[in-house]
Amino acid sequence: MSLTHLFDSLTAEKLQNKACAKWQNYSSDILPLWVADMDFPVSDKIKDALRSYADSDNFGYPSYQGLPGVKEVTLKRLTERHGWTIDAKALTLINGIVPGLFLSVMALTSAQDEVIVPSPIYGPFKMAIEMTGRKGVFVPLLEPNYELDFEALENSVTPASRVLMLCNPHNPVGRVFRRDELEKLAEFALRHRLWVVSDELHSDLVFSGHKHIPFGSLGGEISQRTITLFGPTKTFNIAGLKIGFAASENPALLKRFEAVSAGLMGQPNVFAQTALLAAFSEGDAWLSETLTYLERNRDFIGEYVTANLPQIGYRAPEGTYLAWLDMRKLALENPETFALEQAKVALNNGAWFGPGGEGFLRLNFATSRGIVTEALERLKTAVNAL
Ligand SMILES: Cc1ncc(COP(=O)(O)O)c(C=O)c1O
Repeated sequence: MSLTHLFDSLTAEKLQNKACAKWQNYSSDILPLWVADMDFPVSDKIKDALRSYADSDNFGYPSYQGLPGVKEVTLKRLTERHGWTIDAKALTLINGIVPGLFLSVMALTSAQDEVIVPSPIYGPFKMAIEMTGRKGVFVPLLEPNYELDFEALENSVTPASRVLMLCNPHNPVGRVFRRDELEKLAEFALRHRLWVVSDELHSDLVFSGHKHIPFGSLGGEISQRTITLFGPTKTFNIAGLKIGFAASENPALLKRFEAVSAGLMGQPNVFAQTALLAAFSEGDAWLSETLTYLERNRDFIGEYVTANLPQIGYRAPEGTYLAWLDMRKLALENPETFALEQAKVALNNGAWFGPGGEGFLRLNFATSRGIVTEALERLKTAVNAL
């Protein structure tokens, strides 16, 4: 049985009892296409590695540099997949990317400092800024193609601006920013002496015709001013294991980051590290099948929306497995409540993603074609009943 066929066989009935947030947060009449977990089975390479680690009886502290090979496979992957060659000293293991967002803000700013963020943006960016007493300055991306608005970015700078935060590939709009856009952004950051925090957690979830370029790989001074956050958890559907990396070619910057977390975060546990090792060194056959499946789902959504839901705006994402649906023409009071109550589909409310997100819904299409189809059919019936 091919992997594609295996994914097609996933149904709501089979997934309903899965003990995870995605499937347990709503009653069984709701199709949950919200939180960014995939419904696909995890690669056997990762599951086998975890089983054999469990048999090794080695649950003591790993070396402070991580389990043997963890940094090496990561560095190799960065070079081979993304053309970014850095030193092992440029990598720090972290317990997740959201902790990395908080730590970066705490390390690089003081209370009242301003952090510039193109928006809409994955909600914890805003949390990391505001819950630490900093000020978020959100600069909406330009519609309809979600380009960076350089004029508005320029106008957002004040003497209190310290950091620019970027999400690339972008959650929720699905952009994979081009080199020319990133270079222009780098020039902007350098001119205003901003630090850059680049969340690249979705960097291996990129569709054909697009290429991920790590912000830190642009070279020269901008690499010295950038902390990049990335890891295997979205790509390989292992978010519950909590692991990632903060990377910077500026040792002083990484030291500042590490100083904030010292004693608080600890190292990712040995199972998380084992999964990372297997994912990065042996997971690519699974990933390539999965990307093919996701790209077909992405295209199917485009065809379905054009044919059946012309009231909904949809620009095919270039990466991620998130569809960003523009519901504004329907003039709904609350699109999330509409989808949940009228269509029985759980989606993320665009308003949660900040300025530029109001009136949108985010749909997670990392599930079987059957479930995606059913969700769209339910939406169509609810929209037609308006
Ligand atoms: C862009 C982005 N950053 C961070 C996270 C969460 O990362 P973690 O689970 O490692 O904290 C997500 C989860 O969907 C995400 O999409």
